[in-house]
Amino acid sequence: MSNEIIGKIKETVELAEKEIKNIKNNDELEQWRIKYLGRSGFILSFTREISSMHDDLKPLAGKEINKLKKILTGLYEEKKKEIDLSYVINELGHKKEVLIYTYPGREPDFAYFHPITIITKSMINIFKKMGFGIWTGPEIETDYYNFSALNTPENHPARDMWDTFYLDYSKGILLRTHTSPIQIRTMERFKPPFRIIAVGKCFRKDAFDSSHSPVFHQMEGLMVGFDINFAHLKGALIYFLRELFGAEIKVRFLPAYFPFTEPSAEISISCVICKGKGCSTCGGTGWLEILGAGMIHPEVFKNIARKEPSYSPDKITGFAFGMGIERIAMLKYCINDIRHFYNNDIRFLTQFRLNLGDNNEILL
Ligand code: DAH
Repeated sequence: MSNEIIGKIKETVELAEKEIKNIKNNDELEQWRIKYLGRSGFILSFTREISSMHDDLKPLAGKEINKLKKILTGLYEEKKKEIDLSYVINELGHKKEVLIYTYPGREPDFAYFHPITIITKSMINIFKKMGFGIWTGPEIETDYYNFSALNTPENHPARDMWDTFYLDYSKGILLRTHTSPIQIRTMERFKPPFRIIAVGKCFRKDAFDSSHSPVFHQMEGLMVGFDINFAHLKGALIYFLRELFGAEIKVRFLPAYFPFTEPSAEISISCVICKGKGCSTCGGTGWLEILGAGMIHPEVFKNIARKEPSYSPDKITGFAFGMGIERIAMLKYCINDIRHFYNNDIRFLTQFRLNLGDNNEILL
């Protein structure tokens, strides 16, 4: 019985080869495919035969059928390429530069990511380890999400902290000046507790200079829950900064003001260039300011609680933080001018490689 099926398989290969040689177009090829590889084709009818065979013979027969399937599929693929190629040459007349659109693209030996992408991936990776989810939000925002819901109502002097591009001033439509509106959007969408980071482009009416760009990136963090306190904020940020810049750095929290947090803090690390001695990068202070953060202001929770009562400020607390990604990249890679990121100078851009570990995890 097994010899019988092996014989039949051999005959099938010969027949299939003979038939496919004469095939000239895709219609004929499809007929061929149905006959051999289709649902009532040879392969499946052989497979069905196996069930009536003696158990000892089944594995061998199965192997032979698999081999047959491989051979037939190979013949099919080859023929398909040949037909497609002849179509391109004969019908499209591309005789010199042949475009074989069914071929997979050639994989480049290497590729470069933009340094902002690389640092962003590394930063996300650290927060992922602490269980933060990743979220995004729109670049075109409303006055409500960018300001009012963040406890910065109209005519609030703190609005001057962000010089805003308005798309339609009378309707309050603008380009977000920071990623903080994503805090509001995520709280409206998810009930507490949760923790997320969000990354995206931000826009401010700043002229280009060595440390400003009208378009830049921020990373925002938000953690809300039932007994979140300042120690959690400190723990998360110190862990993040030491993972990113090295275990030896010092982290400093100073009181600050942001309308959406109370208390607020401005966070610095000991200068990565001079190790705290004082140099031109840190302006002689030994410290580099890189983050704004704080405990979510009760007014912000009240704005959410109007729609989602679980955010009532007597039940919920939380922390948030925000930082400029370009600034982090400049400090991490010792870049002294933000404009390098946007000049598209290939000599600059090809200095940065994404470092992947054995399991494709991102290494710093
Ligand atoms: N949104 C602030 C800015 O762009 C940064 C910031 C400060 C974000 C404190 C926060 C925060 O979430 O708590 O300047």
